Amino acid sequence: MDNRPIGIFDSGLGGLTVVKECMDILPGENITYFGDVARIPYGTRSEETVRRYSLQCTRFLLSKGIKMLIIGCNTASARSLEIIRNTVDIPVIGVIRPGARAAVRATKNSKIGVIGTISTISSGAYEKEIKNISPEADVASAACSLFVPIVEEGWSDTEVARAAADKYLSPVKAHGVDTLILGCTHYPLLKKTVTGYMGEGVTLINPAYETVLEAKSLLGKSGMLAEGNGNPHYEYYTSDFSPKFVQICSEFLHSDIQFCEKVDIEKY
Ligand code: DGL
Repeated sequence: MDNRPIGIFDSGLGGLTVVKECMDILPGENITYFGDVARIPYGTRSEETVRRYSLQCTRFLLSKGIKMLIIGCNTASARSLEIIRNTVDIPVIGVIRPGARAAVRATKNSKIGVIGTISTISSGAYEKEIKNISPEADVASAACSLFVPIVEEGWSDTEVARAAADKYLSPVKAHGVDTLILGCTHYPLLKKTVTGYMGEGVTLINPAYETVLEAKSLLGKSGMLAEGNGNPHYEYYTSDFSPKFVQICSEFLHSDIQFCEKVDIEKY
């Protein structure tokens, strides 16, 4: 039994998709979240910068006494999972491996699509994990840079989103994939639009969900699940408050944030 919080960080508020899954799958767990709103996006930055930022987020969450770290951000997971694992002595889970594993389980024709930020796609992290598990898998990837701002604008189910999906997803669709990894925190909010373009026959994988299942299994195996007194404590920290903060939070979380504090992340 371990009642310390699970720490989750993301480049912004998109990682709240992971928090939401945690609330549903691990309702007894306390959660401490950090969103690096001041420095989003990570997806267009260099590997070096993403690593530096990710280590700062990690140090901040460690200062809050977390028992496990979930890197909610796909870009940060792709670029800095190993370096973080080598730095800390608590379990660290990124979203890439759980997402890749679920896709390999789901595919019937071994053709898997991956969509994400430019950084995630150019890192090849999903493709590497997929091939590690299933060397014969045929992977088609696409960077969908406009998807993040479209979601943040609240335009997930609009003509703009559909036009972008058309443009970005056509090579992946032409490849004949039957499974598509939504390899970015924001993309689960575009499920309807993506399915509308790819067709109902294509299975969409949400790495956030898969990651929380992995966290649950790991906590269970190591006797680290929380007692769960029916009143979990959620704390949110952010490096900035954008004007659309409250709106974006409630879109991702389907509920309002009770406690949120601003942090000077450069100090960590
Ligand atoms: N959270 C990022 C990801 O999952 C998307 C936003 C960004 O580019 O920072 O890759």
